[in-house]
Amino acid sequence: MPPVIGVIGCGYISRFHFQSIAAAGARIAIVSDLKAENAAARAGEFACAATADWRAVVAHPEVQAVVCCAPSAMHAPIAKAALEAGKHVISEKTLALDPADSLALGRLAQARNLRLYVNYMKRFFPAVEEAARILPGLGAIIAVQVRAHHPAPFDLSDPASSHPFFSPGDDGHSPIWKASGGGVLTCSGSHVLDLLIHLAGRPTSVYGRTLRRSGHDAEFMFHGLLDLPGGAVAHLDCIWHPHRRVGFERRGWDESIEIIASRGRLVLRFPVWDAPERAAAQLAVYDEATGSWSERAFDSINPFTAAGAHFIAQIAAGAQGPMDPFTGYRVDAVIAALLRSAATGAPESLRWQDG
Ligand SMILES: NC(=O)c1ccc[n+]([C@@H]2O[C@H](COP(=O)([O-])OP(=O)(O)OC[C@H]3O[C@@H](n4cnc5c(N)ncnc54)[C@H](O)[C@@H]3O)[C@@H](O)[C@H]2O)c1
Repeated sequence: MPPVIGVIGCGYISRFHFQSIAAAGARIAIVSDLKAENAAARAGEFACAATADWRAVVAHPEVQAVVCCAPSAMHAPIAKAALEAGKHVISEKTLALDPADSLALGRLAQARNLRLYVNYMKRFFPAVEEAARILPGLGAIIAVQVRAHHPAPFDLSDPASSHPFFSPGDDGHSPIWKASGGGVLTCSGSHVLDLLIHLAGRPTSVYGRTLRRSGHDAEFMFHGLLDLPGGAVAHLDCIWHPHRRVGFERRGWDESIEIIASRGRLVLRFPVWDAPERAAAQLAVYDEATGSWSERAFDSINPFTAAGAHFIAQIAAGAQGPMDPFTGYRVDAVIAALLRSAATGAPESLRWQDG
């Protein structure tokens, strides 16, 4: 039986979670949002209770798994309370603002034999699954190019150009920072960092450079060099840019990973994040033995639905599966190290504590 679900946060991203919960046939017992109208709309749709108090979701006696779609600063306290109450957790990314909290959450989930997932749903694109299968046959990884160029409604190079979503309000924080807990690295880069770690391993040290415009709390550009196991280096390139017709869909979304290995290469390209049905993620593979490229064709799928189905099935089966409870910690630790490096100008070593 699928677990009974409680959802915290009924804003933009929650639509994908509600779709995937419904597709998995799981029942929702209660939803929460500080905005009563957001919670009421979902409660009406799913014939469940609504509350403004997220703790009521965690404490609800029927709820077996908590889906957290609240702003990022709330993820760690919600996940901690849920795990302590004996509930499984599916959290939006990123898991915590401080990787020490993400590590503690992974350990807590393990100690309580509960499932903990962070919604790095791009792993569930068939193109990524195929890349993970092919990669070992391409030999040793030599270099990786990781790009997250996402469109933004302003011109980075023009100090007079800005947008309210990216500009701090009276409380000192921009809406983008409040939702995602950071700037382009955390918001846009976290997915490609998860994919880098998933496909190429945990970085051993990093070096970061950033551009933060005066008066803004979120960086608009981040570049990183990441030392990988085995001596390879990954180049990370994250930008919020004003170009409307770049990327393979020509919709401004230009996100890709190229892995250069001793016997070949592979290139992954990703569609616009919130309309993934429109175009499949793409995979091209180069084989040095034959000197040929092959383009692999995939059906377009919604990775949110695939990820949600996987998480709910794993919870029902009582098994964590391949996405272990330290997935969120690893991404958070790399982001924190890159930001520290950008602040100090010095490289940062990563001392992994997730075993
Ligand atoms: N996986 C992805 O690709 C992806 C994409 C976008 C956003 N996200 C993540 O999803 C999260 C939410 O982003 P969003 O774009 O939906 O933001 P949003 O502002 O549209 O929605 C957040 C909702 O949470 C509610 N909320 C705030 N504090 C709350 C609390 N204490 N208790 C209950 N509800 C509360 C808000 O009222 C709002 O309705 C963020 O952490 C973001 O990083 C992930």
